[in-house]
Amino acid sequence: MDTNREKLKNELLDRLDQENMPAHIGIIMDGNGRWAKSRGKTRIHGHQEGARRVKGVVRFANDIGVRHISLYAFSVENWARPSFEVSALMRLIRAYIIRERNALHAEGVKFRLLGRMEELAPEIIKQANISTELMKNNPGLSLNLCINYGGRAEIVDAVKKIIAAGHKPQDISEELISSYLYCPELPDVDLMIRTSGEMRTSNFHLWRGAYAELYFTPVLWPDFDELELLKAIETYQNRERRFGKISEQL
Ligand code: FPP
Repeated sequence: MDTNREKLKNELLDRLDQENMPAHIGIIMDGNGRWAKSRGKTRIHGHQEGARRVKGVVRFANDIGVRHISLYAFSVENWARPSFEVSALMRLIRAYIIRERNALHAEGVKFRLLGRMEELAPEIIKQANISTELMKNNPGLSLNLCINYGGRAEIVDAVKKIIAAGHKPQDISEELISSYLYCPELPDVDLMIRTSGEMRTSNFHLWRGAYAELYFTPVLWPDFDELELLKAIETYQNRERRFGKISEQL
């Protein structure tokens, strides 16, 4: 990081309001392909650089007191990409889970996968389960890697489980549906970040993101760093979250 960016990062760190941290940040890591294209490299190279970015951002989020981070690494719609790109993404995700396991554990992070597990390669599930089990009692940030994830799919899966459990129409409430989502203890998303300038949420955390503050940045994911995360959190801290009320009631 150059000196000006380092200086700005320290200023933002000083201004960080520990009483008003987003407890759960969701990140749509977009722009790997464009990052690579602009350098004359392959899309896979862009994903490799994107995967490299994850480590620093997760560690920094943990250091500054974020409790939960959800990373949109592969959506239910991403299976439609060319098969070599799908395979490369799955290889990167598996390698990340294995490579970062001990470091994440040492940092006190918890780990889990969020998504439709039954359609994933057994090896990815196996490696993820090893990490989840190893880190389950850690006190720090929980890292939720969203793979084969879709917000609508999550709600559909919750409804199926609700019916299978024999609930009646009069049982249905927001609390009940929340309790059947992929990881029921995960709180609502407070801040949803999307890189690369696209301004949509693309089926990410539909239910838990109902009241998320949205932050869109033109920065491409492989360039997203600690300073960019701090900028997003500062923007969040300057917003007024009213949850349907008026300012005077807050
Ligand atoms: C969107 O960029 C990115 C993805 C679909 C995959 C995100 C994956 C990673 C960051 C790497 C693997 C993740 C981990 C956790 C190891 P895009 O390909 O749609 O970019 P483009 O819109 O510029 O083409």
